Amino acid sequence: MNRDILSKIEQEQMISREELEELLTTTDQELIEELYRRARATAGKYYGKEIYLRGLIEFTNYCKNNCYYCGIRCGNEKAQRYRLTMDQILSCCESGWELGFRTFVLQGGEDPYYTDERICTITKEIKKRYPDCAVTLSIGEKERASYQAYFDAGADRYLLRHETADEVHYQKLHPSQMSLAHRKECLRELKEIGYQTGCGFMVGSPGQTLDTLYEDLVFIKELQPEMVGIGPFIPHQDTPFAEEKAGTLEDTLRLLAIIRLIHPMVLLPSTTALGTIHPMGREKGILAGANVVMPNLSPVQVRDKYTLYDNKICTGEEAAECRGCLERRVAAVGYRCVTDRGDSAMCR
Ligand code: 5AD
Ligand code: FES
Repeated sequence: MNRDILSKIEQEQMISREELEELLTTTDQELIEELYRRARATAGKYYGKEIYLRGLIEFTNYCKNNCYYCGIRCGNEKAQRYRLTMDQILSCCESGWELGFRTFVLQGGEDPYYTDERICTITKEIKKRYPDCAVTLSIGEKERASYQAYFDAGADRYLLRHETADEVHYQKLHPSQMSLAHRKECLRELKEIGYQTGCGFMVGSPGQTLDTLYEDLVFIKELQPEMVGIGPFIPHQDTPFAEEKAGTLEDTLRLLAIIRLIHPMVLLPSTTALGTIHPMGREKGILAGANVVMPNLSPVQVRDKYTLYDNKICTGEEAAECRGCLERRVAAVGYRCVTDRGDSAMCR
C-alpha cells in the first residue's frame, strides 16, 4: 500500500491532505528512503547530476518590515545595519564571475534607500558587464510598475517566498500591515511580467500545521513557480520568536522530496538554513531532490550582519571559501556544480 502512495503522487503530480499526513508522520524508514529515491530520480530526469550555483549577494540588511521571525526586522535594534555600495556589489559579481557563477542573486531587506532607479541601475550595470548571466532579485513586495521596471532593466528572476498560504497563519507571522493577499498578488504580477518566479516557505514556523502545509502545496500547484525556496525555521534571539522551536531536518527533507514529485521541473535550492541545522543538511537536501545551491558571495566583513536566524553558517573564517567548500560537498554525494545560468526546465 505504501509504495502505491508514492506511485500515485508521482503519476498525478498531486498529493492529498491524507497522503501528506502519511508521509510527514510515518516512521517507516524504507518508505522515506523510497520517497527520496524517487525525488532524486525525478530531479535527475530534468537536471541530471548537475547542481546549479547561485552567487548570493546580501546587499542590505535594512528593512522596513517587522516580521516576527526575522533577525533583520526593523524592530531589532541590536542588528548592525549595513548597505553595500554599487562598487561593492559589482566587485562581488566580478569575483563571482571568475569563480564561474552565472547567476547573481541580489537579496536584501525592504530598504527604501534602494529606490527603483537604484535597483535598475545596478541591474543594468551587472547585465552590461556580464551579458550571459542571470540576475535574480529578492527584495520583497513592490508595486507592479517597479517589478516591470526591474524586468525591463534586465532582471530575469525574482524570489519572494509566500511564507505560508494560510491567511490566519500569515497573520501570526507578520504584523497587521502585511497581508497574504498582497503577497500573492505580487507573485502573480511577477509571473505575468515574465520573471522566472520563486515562492516558498519556512518549515516548522510557529503556528504551522499539516493543514497550512497542505495549503502551501496547493498554492504551489496553482502558481506554477519556476523556483521554490524552503528551509527550516530557526529562531533568532532578538525576535518575538526567540523561544520557539526550530523546524526539523527530517520534515524539511520530506517536503523537498514531495515538492519535487508534485512539481517536477522546479528549481529547488538546498538552503543555507538546512545547512545550519545539520552539518550535512545541504547534501541531504540534494539527495532528497534539490538541485540548486546558493553560496554566499557577500563581502566577508558584512556576512555576520545578515542574520535572519541564529548560528547561520558561512559567516566566519571559512566564509571566503564557500564556492570551493560547496563544490567539494556536492561532489562528495555524487553530483557536480555547473557553470551555467541554470534556467528552469520549465523555460526550455
Ligand atoms: N529562520 C529561517 N528562515 C528565515 N527567513 C527569515 N527569517 C528566518 C528564520 N528565522 C527566511 C524567510 C525569508 C527568507 C529570505 O528567509 O522565509 O523569505
Ligand atoms: Fe560556506 Fe561551506 S558553504 S563555508
